[in-house]
Amino acid sequence: MDILDIIAKKRDKGTLSRDEIHFFIKNYVDGSIKDYQASALLMAIYLNGMNNEEISILTDEMMHSGEVMNLDSIEGIKVDKHSTGGVGDKVSLILGPMIASAGAKLAKMSGRGLGHTGGTLDKLESIPGMRINLSKNEFIQQVKKIGISIIGQNSKLVPADKKIYALRDVTSTIGSIPLIASSVMSKKLASGSDAILLDVKYGSGAFMKDIDSAKELARTMVNIGKHLNKDVKAEVTPMDQPLGLAVGNNLEIKEVIATLKGNGPKDLFELCIDSGAIMLMQAKITKTKEEGVKILQENVKNGKAFDKFVEFVSAQGGDVSYILDPSKFEMAKNIVPIYSKKSGYINRIDAMTIGISSMRLGGGRETLDDVIDMSAGIVLNKKLGDEVRENELLCTIYTNRKENDYMPIIENVYNSFKIDENLIYKKEEHILIE
Ligand code: URA
Repeated sequence: MDILDIIAKKRDKGTLSRDEIHFFIKNYVDGSIKDYQASALLMAIYLNGMNNEEISILTDEMMHSGEVMNLDSIEGIKVDKHSTGGVGDKVSLILGPMIASAGAKLAKMSGRGLGHTGGTLDKLESIPGMRINLSKNEFIQQVKKIGISIIGQNSKLVPADKKIYALRDVTSTIGSIPLIASSVMSKKLASGSDAILLDVKYGSGAFMKDIDSAKELARTMVNIGKHLNKDVKAEVTPMDQPLGLAVGNNLEIKEVIATLKGNGPKDLFELCIDSGAIMLMQAKITKTKEEGVKILQENVKNGKAFDKFVEFVSAQGGDVSYILDPSKFEMAKNIVPIYSKKSGYINRIDAMTIGISSMRLGGGRETLDDVIDMSAGIVLNKKLGDEVRENELLCTIYTNRKENDYMPIIENVYNSFKIDENLIYKKEEHILIE
């Protein structure tokens, strides 16, 4: 077999066989296929696409390019959740303890934030002492004992994705549905859970800007699950504004705590309950979504979900006193309110600008080596569709940066709100693909 024939076949819109895809992945990972040849094949895939079977084979081959976690020693159905990312997305940290309090087993590997998106691991690390690099055995034992663990991805998982993703980044081949779907799913499947719920975001703060491409990505990933015999469902949900009110690491953890106590923002709470109820069905704990919604709402009211979060933080070495008294979290030195210059309705909030602004206030990373300021970020006071009066609070920024550095960011944050005389905003669609 020759890589040149494989490139030519895809260039001419052919369908690649398992042997050809296997040959590419194996030889690219071991270095015998060069970056320039892999780039040509990725561009051919970008331009000519792949059918569902090719995408599933590509995912399977990528998944088996490294270690695959074996979670069989944990009794019952192991569930996992993945969001394609956005601004203020702290759902896993709320939904995880919620479903674990109802008997589900969540064994989750998460990532770090980059650019406008935050990462679950960074948020967790804003809790002093929290360990996110447990050994495989510690991870499994913790899920067995308390039903939940969230850690960083094992570096031995899916080496093919590390190489291919880095190459896509420098060859303008990121935005291809077969390549995104195989990248996300190979990592999720290698993490070893039996059932996966995906949350594919669309809108100004998401990777997918419109609902149609988000639906196509969701369908493609659900199909991979069908081909590879895994229970995969996908929600397609809006990221047309930050999720909840808080953006930034310890600010988001405070919102997680409030939400688990039943005092969180409505959009965030509803999404957690909705996704959690689907996962309880995937875990075969409940038969209907309504049953799951009821259990999860009840576990927030009776404190079981919050107690599970405390147990989870404690099991991973986190200082629980911060969870019990969130005022202990470090506060940024500069806390600056931003007021509306006019009265009207909020018809647009540019989530991408909010995410990038939070990063520039110190709350995120521009490059992977940047050090995050855990106390920096933005807390919204108004959301889409809200009425606002002149001089009323729109949001507050938190930063340790100097005034000269944060003043231009304030301007950007203010301009990310579009305030009109009339209300035009309509709630975006939220759908489930299974
Ligand atoms: N996230 C991934 O893990 N892979 C992609 O290709 C895009 C987003």
